[in-house]
Amino acid sequence: MQPTTAHDAYARPFQGQVGIVTGAARGIGRAVARRLAADGMRVVVWDLDGDGAEQAAAELRSAGADAQAFALDVTDEAAVTAAAQAVRGELGRIDALVNNAGIYPHVPFVDLTLEDWRRIMRVNTESAFLCSKAVFPAMRDQRYGRIVNFASAVFLNGVGGPAYVASKAAAIGLTRSSARELAEHGITVNAVAPGLIDTEGLRDLGPRADELFGFVVPSQLIRRRGRPEDIAECVAFLVAPANGFMTGQLVNVDGGDSFH
Ligand SMILES: NC(=O)c1ccc[n+]([C@@H]2O[C@H](COP(=O)([O-])OP(=O)(O)OC[C@H]3O[C@@H](n4cnc5c(N)ncnc54)[C@H](O)[C@@H]3O)[C@@H](O)[C@H]2O)c1
Repeated sequence: MQPTTAHDAYARPFQGQVGIVTGAARGIGRAVARRLAADGMRVVVWDLDGDGAEQAAAELRSAGADAQAFALDVTDEAAVTAAAQAVRGELGRIDALVNNAGIYPHVPFVDLTLEDWRRIMRVNTESAFLCSKAVFPAMRDQRYGRIVNFASAVFLNGVGGPAYVASKAAAIGLTRSSARELAEHGITVNAVAPGLIDTEGLRDLGPRADELFGFVVPSQLIRRRGRPEDIAECVAFLVAPANGFMTGQLVNVDGGDSFH
C-alpha cells in the first residue's frame, strides 16, 4: 500500500507499509526501527534477544506505532522462513527488510578458529541471504520491495579481524548480485557501511571501544562519535518508496572518515 497523496508520500512515507528490522532489540537496529515507525511503518523486530525485542516493540507501540517482536536466530533457516510467512499472513505484506543483525567479536588472525570464522560469516552474511530469500515471495508478488544490507567501513581499512571484514565485504557482493537479479521484480537492494557507531555492541568490547573512538574520531571530517540515529536516517532514505531509482549501491556513513 502506497501513500495516497504527494503530501503523504513525504510526510508519512511508510504509511501502510510493513518492514522487518533484524537485530532491532538494541543499537543501530533499534534506532532504525524507531525511525521507520515514526514515519508510519508497521515495524517487525526480529532478534535473538526475545526480551529486548519485546521491549523495543513495546516502546514503538507506546509512541503510537504498530509494532511486533519475534524472538529468533537469523541464521536459522526454518525459523526465518516461518517468521516471514507469519508476518505476511498477519500483516498482509512485507515492504522492507533491513538486514542489520550482526556480531563483531574482536578475534585477530592468529587466534581465529574455523568455528569463529563460520559463526561470524553465518550471522553477518548468511543471515542476510536467508532473510532476503524468506521475504522474496511477498515482495515478488507485490512487485515492490526494499532490502538494505549492512556492510561496514572496515571493508576499506581492514580494521576488525579477518572474519568480520570478510563478512562485511561479502555483504557488498550479496547486495550487488541480488540488486541485479531482483530489479525485474520491483525490488531494490542497497547497502550501508557505518563508520564507528556508539552502540551497546561496541561498548561490549570494553576499553577497546574508547581506544577505537580515540583513533577514529580525529580522522573524521565530522569530529564526533557516530550515533545509531545517523545510520537510521540513511536506512530510512534507502527504503523510502520515493527512492526507486537507486539499487546495488553502497552508502558510506562514517563522518567523512573515508571516500570511496
Ligand atoms: N557499531 C558500529 O560501530 C558498527 C560499525 C559498522 C557496522 N556495524 C554493523 O551494524 C550492525 C548493528 O551493529 P550494532 O553496533 O548496533 O550491534 P549491537 O550488538 O548493539 O546490536 C546487534 C543486535 O543484533 C542481535 N543479533 C545478534 N546476532 C543475532 C542473531 N543470530 N539473530 C538475531 N539477532 C541477532 C543482537 O541480539 C542485538 O540486539 C551490525 O551488522 C554491525 O556489524 C556496526
